[in-house]
Amino acid sequence: MHKVLILNGPNLNLLGTRQPEVYGRTTLKMLEETCVSHGAKIGLDVSHQQSNHEGALIDAIHAAKGNQDGIVLNAGAYTHTSIALMDAIASVGLPVVEVHLSNIHAREAFRHKSYIAPVALGQICGFGLHSYVMALDGLLAHLQNEGAA
Ligand code: DQA
Repeated sequence: MHKVLILNGPNLNLLGTRQPEVYGRTTLKMLEETCVSHGAKIGLDVSHQQSNHEGALIDAIHAAKGNQDGIVLNAGAYTHTSIALMDAIASVGLPVVEVHLSNIHAREAFRHKSYIAPVALGQICGFGLHSYVMALDGLLAHLQNEGAA
């Protein structure tokens, strides 16, 4: 069974109460439980981690090498600033799907830039919790095709 890490970045621990008009009322716990149960349904072993710290996110990406088959990453605001996260993803060579709850392209201009996108398998944004569910489906399809190649 393929293993996938759901990695959430800064401020996502506050989901449910943080700007619900933008991010909805789903809590991080609900989001993580949905990912684990969707993973079990489609045949993925899903684990999850959240940190507000850039270095801890980089450590989690490094630790995933050899232990996980892919990562679903919502880097929060670090998406728009972090060359270090981009380098970490490029360094481990794991397939990473970038996700966002909100449609970053329909928001402020500073959110349109992603340092993650150039090193990601793909980007899914704007579907709330379903961005993660779609990311898991996409990652599974990718991992199965890789295995078939
Ligand atoms: C976010 C979008 C980012 O611009 C923002 O900084 C976040 C959340 C999202 O999931 O929509 O923290 O990544």
